[in-house]
Amino acid sequence: MDHIEGYRSLKGLPALAGIADFPSAAGPGLSVDAAVLRLKRLHYASQRLWQTCLARLTSEPLYELKMGFSYHAYLAAEHITLLRERVAEMRHPPLGLDKIPDPALESFFDEILAAPTSRLLLGGLYQVALPALFSAVEAMQRDCNPLAEAPTLRVLRTLHTDLLEMIAWGKESLAVLPAEPEEMPWLHELAAWLDAAGSLDGTGAPSSAPHPRYAANGFRYDRTPQRDERFPDPYNMGVHAEEFLYDPAFPVRDKVLMMLFKRLREIDVPEMMASLLYEMVTATGDEEAGGKKWAFYRDMTRQLWDEARHAMMGEVGFARLGIDWPNFVCVNFTWSKGLNEQLTPRERHAVLWFIEQGLMSKTGKRFEWELGRDSGDAYAELIQDYDWADEVLHARIGRDWYVAGFPDVKTAAEYGSACWDKVVADWEQWRNDGLTRHFNWWPGLYREACRLRGEEPDPEIERYSVSYAETRADLRRIAASG
Ligand SMILES: [Fe+2]
Ligand SMILES: [Fe+2]
Repeated sequence: MDHIEGYRSLKGLPALAGIADFPSAAGPGLSVDAAVLRLKRLHYASQRLWQTCLARLTSEPLYELKMGFSYHAYLAAEHITLLRERVAEMRHPPLGLDKIPDPALESFFDEILAAPTSRLLLGGLYQVALPALFSAVEAMQRDCNPLAEAPTLRVLRTLHTDLLEMIAWGKESLAVLPAEPEEMPWLHELAAWLDAAGSLDGTGAPSSAPHPRYAANGFRYDRTPQRDERFPDPYNMGVHAEEFLYDPAFPVRDKVLMMLFKRLREIDVPEMMASLLYEMVTATGDEEAGGKKWAFYRDMTRQLWDEARHAMMGEVGFARLGIDWPNFVCVNFTWSKGLNEQLTPRERHAVLWFIEQGLMSKTGKRFEWELGRDSGDAYAELIQDYDWADEVLHARIGRDWYVAGFPDVKTAAEYGSACWDKVVADWEQWRNDGLTRHFNWWPGLYREACRLRGEEPDPEIERYSVSYAETRADLRRIAASG
């Protein structure tokens, strides 16, 4: 060992493929068994973070938090995949990854899941859980032998980078949400839960556990979507966006406005997908929902994140035009609400696939991309290009995880169609109940776009007033996930 300092590579070439110097490579490291124990805890923490993002996304009213949870669910799912694959390489089949590594660690995540407000949830996640995971990653990076355990270190590098970004987002969000009286004592209790588990990675000495606070009564999952004040009329079905897009009488430049609305409206897809994933992964003994492979959850979480990106592409589109969208468009949640409240998780998946397979048709994603290209608006063309590419990926995901469960595509489509038919969207009732007037917001949006362009509105375009609420038979043409 003493000779290692004096050891030199030939001609001073970078040794050991550049991953380490000789003293550290010759130093100690974790045994395979010790490393697997830690990786399993990192995996468990990532699983719980993923599930918590899914569990809270739909009922979270704040749009920015919804989008953040969509992204972080995706990152956590990617971490889970990396950790699973690495554990499987370390003499550990069967994986045993479904085992809870420590009851105190379970209680710790149960507490966060049950946090009663957005602020507390964020505090638990981004001030305690993610920093603890980050410390565990850094500790493992220090403790691993850089040569013997190079494959693990590569996985940890990804977690390290992503966690830094996630924690920074959480801190920035917390900085603008008002603090709550119960917050500090609870955050201390969370730290005590981690201590009781011998820290997140299990390397500490376990201390005694605190009493459950929010998890004491269990967690009640809420699948009903909530929106913030920028969505004051979420039942509004007053503008039939597709009719406008497909009508050759209207100019492409104005159709871009409607397309941006369609993108932004995709907020409802993560709201629906989060519910189906969370309900499936936590289902016990329910054949309809449970028993899916991890690869299914990974693919579907990627799709969830893509749909959140599509919504944000719409938001950015309005922002770059200078249109303050909450003042001009009513973004409805009726699709996610209807599916979440009226269908089983499997039926929701069937509807999602049924709608998405329709997007590959003539009036689908190619049409929208051509529209973007013909509009002369480089941004519209760009986002539709990626929207289309994402949709092709989603079609593959649908084939693998939905169609594969049926004898053929026709049967899969019939089931999807039948599930879609089951969803009752009673527009008249919503109007009668005073939930909405189905206000036609199009003229206002169009006039604002004209004002910003310095042009006079064209009365023919301004007059457009086809409403979903008036075209009940066209329910199917609401390409909600498109
Ligand atoms: Fe989409
Ligand atoms: Fe999609």
